[in-house]
Amino acid sequence: MARNKIALIGAGNIGGTLALLAGLKEMGDVVLFDIMDGIPQGKALDLAEASPVEGFDAAMSGSKNYSAIKGADVIIVTAGVARKPGMSRDDLIGINTSVMKSVGEGIKKNAPKAFVICITNPLDVMVGILQKASGLPANKVVGMAGVLDSARFRYFLAEEFKVSVEDVTAFVLGGHGDTMVPLIRYSTVAGIPVPDLLKMGWSTKKRIADIVQRTRDGGAEIVGLLKTGSAFYAPASSAIVMAESYLKDKRRLLPAAAFCTGQYGVRNMYVGVPCIIGANGVEKIVEISLNAAEKKMLQKSIDAVQSLSKVAADIEKNAG
Ligand code: APR
Repeated sequence: MARNKIALIGAGNIGGTLALLAGLKEMGDVVLFDIMDGIPQGKALDLAEASPVEGFDAAMSGSKNYSAIKGADVIIVTAGVARKPGMSRDDLIGINTSVMKSVGEGIKKNAPKAFVICITNPLDVMVGILQKASGLPANKVVGMAGVLDSARFRYFLAEEFKVSVEDVTAFVLGGHGDTMVPLIRYSTVAGIPVPDLLKMGWSTKKRIADIVQRTRDGGAEIVGLLKTGSAFYAPASSAIVMAESYLKDKRRLLPAAAFCTGQYGVRNMYVGVPCIIGANGVEKIVEISLNAAEKKMLQKSIDAVQSLSKVAADIEKNAG
């Protein structure tokens, strides 16, 4: 049986890390694509030279021609610019909107059957533009944010409770921005909800509130430390689990930016919701019950994504 083909559009910090992880996990042959000639080819050769040491069989190649992504099973998009200190994800909207349109066209021509995972920020808006430009069905185009935001939340909770990260599950809904909604009630240690752990004296409301805020600011914390760009290891790991769920038809329930058609009161827009990812892409959006406070937070987040979508629509209109 032929190997799967994974195309990575954008061969920067996240793209290179994705290629390494895809190789180590033998997910398939990897093609790196970038407009910067030399970068995708150089990273591919470097990774190929790591393969005998690590013992993985995966062809690694790099290109600046879209024809190289032909027939890809999975495409992960990180093309565009990353933020610098002081910038919000929303500041990237102008340049990344036009990047998503050209990437979408490249996918449409060369890999219309692929499952596409978008990472480029501002995520919820960019994934919508990418889906439209690619002409792919909405269940085959998804945005990676929730797995990353939840991973940050899980890590901070594990540190607080002094337990293994493996036993902490957590949920973050809404847009990938300052209004994201970490759900304490649906976060657990081995199935014990965080509110119960508070009753057991494992932490305090104040400390958990601080963790929620640190999760919301998780991306900015890394940007502030790196100064030259944004996070790349955890974003890459997060997209890889989504790709694996699709390729292996695992039907994992993961938070992701999915196209809503009425779920959570959201119509015809991408936003972070729990969904099942399997061989048919996003197979189901799961609607969990939210209390009044959670609903209010989610609505605020949806409103923020909506107003940013309007900014992007104006940019597209002005660009003709
Ligand atoms: N087509 C293909 N690649 C492009 C294009 C384009 N039109 N425009 C830019 N690129 C490439 C750049 O040449 C660069 O190699 O995208 C790559 C981006 O890499 P980095 O700058 O290292 O950024 P990275 O950290 O990988 O983040 C990429 O993901 O998390 C988001 O906010 C982040 O939007 C950013 C994206």
